[in-house]
Amino acid sequence: MSISLKSPAEIEEMHTACRLAAEVLDYIAPFVKAGVSTAEIDLLCSNYMTKVQHTTSATLNYAPPGYPPYPASICTALNHQVCHGIPGPKPLKKGDILNIDVTVVTQGGFYGDTSRMFVVGECSILAKRLCQVAFECMWLGIAAVRPGARLGDVGHAIQRHAESNGFSVVREFCGHGIGRRFHEDPQVLHYGQPGTGVALQPGMIFTIEPMINAGKAAISELPDGWTIVTRDRSLSAQWEHTVLVTESGVEVLSLSADCPPPSGLVGGALASATNAAIAALEPAPLS
Ligand code: MF3
Ligand code: CO
Ligand code: CO
Repeated sequence: MSISLKSPAEIEEMHTACRLAAEVLDYIAPFVKAGVSTAEIDLLCSNYMTKVQHTTSATLNYAPPGYPPYPASICTALNHQVCHGIPGPKPLKKGDILNIDVTVVTQGGFYGDTSRMFVVGECSILAKRLCQVAFECMWLGIAAVRPGARLGDVGHAIQRHAESNGFSVVREFCGHGIGRRFHEDPQVLHYGQPGTGVALQPGMIFTIEPMINAGKAAISELPDGWTIVTRDRSLSAQWEHTVLVTESGVEVLSLSADCPPPSGLVGGALASATNAAIAALEPAPLS
């Protein structure tokens, strides 16, 4: 396994790629409402990427060994779908929860990857809590990133928060290094033991993208060869950011104007975050 350390020039390119991915989510947010299909959302995102941003989708026709080519420009995971859901013609309805996962490729060949949860109208208290806890899991994972920390610290922070809220962490899919390739080393597990695993170094760039289930952790794959669902058909939620390990802590690269700020829960834990952008997002520290 080899983990590349990005040069300052590469980091600059990754800033752009990740911001552009986040801006696709900003753009699509107002369209996520009852009556709109995920296929329509896919088409809108595709046009925005290619015609406005001059980026391309990393997912369209993506075909890792053993998989059929992925047929859409974004991934949409609805309700009990965990990840890699394929957009389709069924209209969204009130109470649905939807993950939209965007990976763009810049003209310079750099990948930016981020995803958010969207709620259609009002959802159940359970669905809301699941989305909130998954969001906090991602931010607690981010807050554990600093030079010298280990990937097991990141996974542990996520697992502990999910499980202490009665939820479970999907094991089969993980975060990943990213750069000039979509999926690089290291694998970033969303569970683990503190003090174990790869030691983080400045210049590493990877995603943190926990998939949190309301019921059991087990998953199944649908016959389309892509869509992952919870085996017990319980709800699932996921958030994803791409982050950089800095000399003194962490910088979130996939920020944008409308990206939801970390909640009070992670305020203190994020002391290591070095970018002014996170500080600006952050609500007033808890007193
Ligand atoms: N964007 C996803 C990730 O976070 C990967 C999607 S691969 C696809 O790694 F083929 F399903 F699109
Ligand atoms: Co993604
Ligand atoms: Co990813």
